[in-house]
Amino acid sequence: MGDMLKNRVAVITGAGSGLGKAYAMGMARQGARIVVNDLGTSFDGRGTSRDAADEVVELIRKEGGDAVPNYDSVAVEDGAKNIIKTAIDAYGRIDILVNNAGIITGGLIYEIGTADWDAMIKTHLYGTFFCTHEASSIMKEQKYGRIISTSSHNGLGLKGGSAYSAAKEGITGFSRSVARDMAPFGVTCNIIRPIAAWRGAKVKITEFEELDTEDVAVLVIYLASEAADHINGCIFEVYTGHVGIYEEPPPVKQVLWKNGHFTSEEMADIIPQTLTKGMARDDFPNTLPFSLTLPEEPSGK
Ligand SMILES: NC(=O)c1ccc[n+]([C@@H]2O[C@H](COP(=O)([O-])OP(=O)(O)OC[C@H]3O[C@@H](n4cnc5c(N)ncnc54)[C@H](O)[C@@H]3O)[C@@H](O)[C@H]2O)c1
Repeated sequence: MGDMLKNRVAVITGAGSGLGKAYAMGMARQGARIVVNDLGTSFDGRGTSRDAADEVVELIRKEGGDAVPNYDSVAVEDGAKNIIKTAIDAYGRIDILVNNAGIITGGLIYEIGTADWDAMIKTHLYGTFFCTHEASSIMKEQKYGRIISTSSHNGLGLKGGSAYSAAKEGITGFSRSVARDMAPFGVTCNIIRPIAAWRGAKVKITEFEELDTEDVAVLVIYLASEAADHINGCIFEVYTGHVGIYEEPPPVKQVLWKNGHFTSEEMADIIPQTLTKGMARDDFPNTLPFSLTLPEEPSGK
């Protein structure tokens, strides 16, 4: 038990399992009052249930904490409005928003269906927008707020993950802009790329055996606290025993100048000798520090 978030009100989306559950439990132990939002859906977005949110609320209350459930979908504007309203109705304010709810569907670009694409973009990107949009005007009035949104290493490029990557990198750019919009009002907005156990099963990662959700929660709790007031618009990667911060997007590496217009033939001649010198197509840098094994069979919780 601690008091890093004493008297603060936190809304955590997708808090019925995995990372969101660890944030909810951890924040409650630091004195925050929690809205536990969860649609109670399978990891690929099938079905709904109230059990996930209810169970986490019960766990928090058993430990002496304060929490209320919400079962709305972040992917629907009215749902997101109701999620934030739950905090106002129960506690009169919202200090912390963690955009965490997520699903995984998709496939190779020549196979993915539009419905899967829509579900991913709606849940991750629209969900993050709807909740942030709704919370931002309240935080602006309060002159205080902490928003933490969830990206992924896989946003940087994942075979078979174009929808997930689009959504997660969309969240990164979106959140960096929100950080700038909200900075004058005492509100910060930061981004994490976490790695941790997934729906109770340990993620299989070559170099790591066990990655606990609590080891991501410790950073999220810090970013949600007053102590992290100086951190805004930053991107972190975090997993057990590891926390890193991303560079600001670097400037363009190398530029060719010409006093006039290039032709395509000139480009074909000059670029391999300069900008892409020594590079073959298979030399693409793999920015991921590990390889992830995604679950193959859809399964419920
Ligand atoms: N676990 C990892 O290693 C990892 C890595 C990178 C990014 N992430 C991201 O972290 C977040 C949490 O991941 P997790 O591993 O804890 O997943 P999880 O599947 O265990 O939990 C996600 C929760 O979100 C809920 N949810 C799904 N759609 C929802 C909706 N529309 N509205 C409200 N709730 C909804 C689900 O019911 C579930 O309880 C996701 O955004 C995920 O993409 C996770």
